[in-house]
Parts: sequence; C-alpha cells; structure tokens
Amino acid sequence: MSEKVYDVTTEWSSRAYIDDAKYREMYAASLKDPVAFWGEEGKRIHWFTPYTKVKNTSFDPHNVSIKWYEDGVTNVAYNCLDRHLATRGDQVAIIWEGDNPDEDKKITYRELYEEVCRFANVLKARGVKKGDRVTIYLPMIPEAAYAMLACARIGAVHSVVFGGFSPDSLAGRIEDAGSTVVVTADEGLRGGRKVPLKLNADAAADRAGGVESIIVVRRTGGSVPMRSGRDVFYDEMAKNMPAECAAAEMNAEDPLFILYTSGSTGKPKGVLHTTGGYLVYAAMTHQYVFDYHDGDIYWCTADVGWVTGHSYIVYGPLANGATTLMFEGVPNYPTIGRFWEVIDKHKVNIFYTAPTAIRSLMQAGEEPVKKTSRASLRLLGSVGEPINPEAWEWYHRVVGDDRCPIVDTWWQTETGGILITPLPGATKLKPGSATRPFFGVVPEVVDANGLVLDGACEGNLVLADSWPGQMRTVYGDHDRFVQTYFATYAGKYFTGDGCRRDADGFYWITGRVDDVINVSGHRMGTAEVESALVAHPKVSEAAVVGYPHDIKGQGIYAYVTLMSGFEPSEELRKELVNWVRKEIGPIASPDLIQFAPGLPKTRSGKIMRRILRKIAEDEFGNLGDTSTLADPGVVDDLIGNRQNRR
Ligand code: WTA
Repeated sequence: MSEKVYDVTTEWSSRAYIDDAKYREMYAASLKDPVAFWGEEGKRIHWFTPYTKVKNTSFDPHNVSIKWYEDGVTNVAYNCLDRHLATRGDQVAIIWEGDNPDEDKKITYRELYEEVCRFANVLKARGVKKGDRVTIYLPMIPEAAYAMLACARIGAVHSVVFGGFSPDSLAGRIEDAGSTVVVTADEGLRGGRKVPLKLNADAAADRAGGVESIIVVRRTGGSVPMRSGRDVFYDEMAKNMPAECAAAEMNAEDPLFILYTSGSTGKPKGVLHTTGGYLVYAAMTHQYVFDYHDGDIYWCTADVGWVTGHSYIVYGPLANGATTLMFEGVPNYPTIGRFWEVIDKHKVNIFYTAPTAIRSLMQAGEEPVKKTSRASLRLLGSVGEPINPEAWEWYHRVVGDDRCPIVDTWWQTETGGILITPLPGATKLKPGSATRPFFGVVPEVVDANGLVLDGACEGNLVLADSWPGQMRTVYGDHDRFVQTYFATYAGKYFTGDGCRRDADGFYWITGRVDDVINVSGHRMGTAEVESALVAHPKVSEAAVVGYPHDIKGQGIYAYVTLMSGFEPSEELRKELVNWVRKEIGPIASPDLIQFAPGLPKTRSGKIMRRILRKIAEDEFGNLGDTSTLADPGVVDDLIGNRQNRR
C-alpha cells in the first residue's frame, strides 16, 4: 500500500465549501442528531408540502423499513428544471458531446424544461400514468435525460437499461419491472460503430411480452422496422406536443426509479430508489464532493445506464443548477486523447471517471495527454472500483499536472450517492484510499462473526445507520432486500465489500467479498455468467470467478465442463465467448475459459469456489484445506490446465 500523503493546499481549504474543521463539525453533528441535520439539509430542494417527519428507519431484519421526509410532497423534475428557470433559464444545463467530435449541442435550462415537458406529454399520450414503469434503453444522447426527467415529472418510474445489454438481458428487466412502454433509439453510435438498439428492443419485446408501446428516438436515421400500433417515432409525436406539462405531486417516498444490478446469486435485482431523500442526497454530495460552484463545467464520463449516470450526470447536477457534460462516445475514439480534447474544447473544470479508463489510457503514455492544455481542470474524481496507487499517481501527475486533488468516491447502486470520499478542501489524500465517510454515514468494519473491530483493522464493511439516498427495497421482492443486505450482520447494512481502516481512520476498500466481480467498473454476478454458459447446449457445468486484470481491474475466468461427447477446442472457446456476449452483453464476455473434466466439489456437491479463485489468480501454491473435496484429484488437472492470464 502506498504511504504517500497529499495535504490539502491552502488554496483548496479556503476556496472549498468545507474545510477540515467544518467537516469534523458537520460530521459530528450529523451523527449526534441525524433528524436535525437532515431536517436542515432537506431544505436544499423545493417541497410543495414541507415534511414534518425527517427520519423513520429500521435495519432490524424482522422489520426493515426506510423512510425519509415521509410526509413531504415534491417533484424531482420540478427541482431540476422549473425551480431554475427564473435565475438560470439561459444557462447551459447540458453540454452534449457526440461520438463524432464535430457533433455537439448545448441545451439551456429553459430548453431542457421544454424538451422534458414535451417528452412527458408524449409518454402521457402513450398511456403512461403515475406509478407505471417505463424502460429506457437509449444511447448517451440528451433524450436519455429528457426521458428520465419526463418520467419523474409525471410520476412514472423509470428503469434505465444500459445500451450494451443484450435483448435477453433487456427482456428480463422489462418483464421484472412489468413495463408496457419502452423508450429506445433507432441505433446508437459508439466509437464510430452502430448499435442496433431498436432491433434489440424488438427482440426483447418478443421475449418479454406485455410491451404495448415502443417510442423510438431517431439518432442515426438508420431505417428500422416499425410495428404499426405499437411503435412510434418520438420526433413525430413530440412536434405536436405542448412544451408545458404540470409536475405531478409526489410523496417523498414514491418511487423515482428502478435500476437493475448484479448480486451474488440469482437474476439482477431491481434496486428501488424513491423521490425526496434520493434527490437531497444526490444534490448534497454533488455539491460538496465535487465542490461545485456556479459556472463550473462538470463532466462525469459514466453512462446513464449505471447509477453514476443517474446521480452524477442527471439528478445531482441538475438539482444544483449545474452545467453537466454528457458524452456519447468512448475514451479512445477517434483518438486516444479524446477525453483530454473534450476537456479543452468545453473548458471542463471537474472531471469524474473510472479507474479502468485511467489504466487503459495510461498505456498510451503521457504524450496524448500532454499535448492538450487541461488548464481548466481543477478537480478529478474516481469511481466504480478500487483505484490502484499507480493509476492514482498517473491521474494526479499527468492528467492533473500535480495540481488537482482526486476524490476517490466509494458507493454503490444501492447507496444512491457517494458514501466514503475525500472532500477536496478538507481531506488529505492517500492514493488508493476512499478516505473518510460523508456526513451521516456510519461505516463499521466487522469480522466474519459480526464483531465490530476498533482502530486500525481489516474486515467487511457494514453501515450502522441509514442515509437519505439509500435504496428502499428490491422491486417486487422485499424479502430479497432484507436477506441480501440485513441478514448477514443483523441490524446493519452489509455492503458486500471488504475494507481496511488505517490508523488515521481512513478507509481502503479492498473489493467485493461475495460472488460479485467488478469488470472495468461494471458489476457482474458470477452466477449470471454461469447460467448463461450452462444454457449452451454443449456445456454441462460452469463456475466463474474473477482474477486480477491489469486494465479491467478484474477479468472473468470461466471453468467449463462439457457434455459428454464434446471435445474442448479453440473454436468452442470462441463459440462460448460469443454465446455469453449474446446472452448478457459484451461486458460479460469471459476473458479466459478453462475446460475442466471436473470441478472441485465438497461431498455435498457444493463447488469450492475458493479453490477456483486461487487457481485463476495463479496462487495455487496456497490452496488451503482440500481434504473436504469429494475428489481431490480434480485439483491437479485444474492447476495443470490453468489458462495463462498474461
Ligand atoms: C465498487 C458504482 C473501491 C465496490 C457507484 C462497490 C469501489 C461496487 C469504488 C458498486 C471505489 C465503487 N473504490 N471500490 N471508489 N466505487 N466500488 O453498484 O465494490 O456499480 O460495492 O456502483 O463497486 O458498484 P455499482
């Protein structure tokens, strides 16, 4: 672990909202009296009817219930749009940068308001009502934000599905949410390549059933089949719609969105976030963590298909009246310097990206970075996976010219917003550490038995109390919510992450301790990849684990046992990789496949994944106790035929 420390500069401690003294004072206040603290913070958004109750939360596994501001009435779109019109109508809300560097667009708050109202009217015309679930399967175009805010405006619940997911994955999510309306585009455009979104949506609708309406935004103008009665082009409907639409009165605890995420078992779960607490938390963290001031240009490179895009491209920034940049493309197209070129083009001040992007751009050396100015940059951020100190140092030295602090923000889809992070004017930085908890966040480190550890220690990360941005339930399966998060360590929220706390009380997230892997910052359940593999007619059994990967953080290592009569071959390996891409999406492609005649199992038939993990990590000298294996002989074969990860 790196022991280097970067102190807060006086420039930062004086310019930022929060310096160290203020952090300590506010953090103590947030723990001492959460009701007073969050009661005050709740006022940062507009309420049609103010709340009188602030916090009503229980982590008791017999009665998990999370409510914030429960009697308040508000509307998220109103807070992101209407509220700003008087003061910022002509200010740019969204800077859109296309995949092609010649394409860009600036959308003011007034224009955004009108676009969202039109979109809301289109949804209404297609029969969408308060409480209905709308699935959004769009590329990174402004219409993605319009569609999300349009749902929020009329009280519909959006479920955004990442455009890289396959028709099958999309179908599962449409079905689970019970969406009858899908919003998609003719085609997406990424790195110069077209993504057949409408065709995928058609295939998904065929599989899921129940889809009554597909609203198609024209992005490329490519010709796509349209089923009459079901499919409509967005632009054709929108042009006749009024640019006014009343914002629905929403209770603070009415659902805002569902976002599917991978867990250690089973199908992806629908993480449900609600209205009031989520918005307060997203807005507050966006303001303080990125030290956002009026006039700043802020760029988060995530996709709106992930939670980072929800909270830190759309809701947090727009609630704060910020200028948020939305990028359609990829980091290396048309040049390996695209990120830095976009920063110069739009004079970006705050830049938030993922370690995997940093690591891959690092490989191209300093030159593509250094030939850009990046003089506008003031603050850098990292999210999605642990950032290794080498990547941190490179980000700091090369991208930030030793001048910009890095906020390494730890959080999850479930947490709604950032929970452990430096504040740039308050927190000294240690490369690789997410440092200290945000206000109201009570991290604890526990051992395997749930014993809370003191001082410097290492164990599993739990949270002892609720914060307003916390997920409220798994859509349609509250019991799964309770079992997944509150049963392991009764009375505490279990994050699924391991962590170390150092003598300064700083947190170092060490990665997942469950069967979730993090591939290029994308969360993937090993069980999902396994079930895709065993769905292949030639596969009898599969076990998937993560292994350290230089660029992706973790790679996907699959052990596959074939049905009798089939022989391992390079060709079959390729066939299986393509199969998984088709079943789930390219992000789930196995990096390595090892054909194994048998998997290590206990006598009761349980696969010993610990052994598979060690072999995938090349740590097979240290397999631990294998005496409980039904057939210890399989281990030698597994070691002998391990796939080279270099
Ligand atoms: C990991 C993304 C270390 C972690 C916002 C977590 C991180 C999972 C960090 C959630 C970080 C996220 N340092 N690990 N700064 N940020 N993670 O739901 O394992 O896509 O549990 O949310 O990513 O991934 P998710």
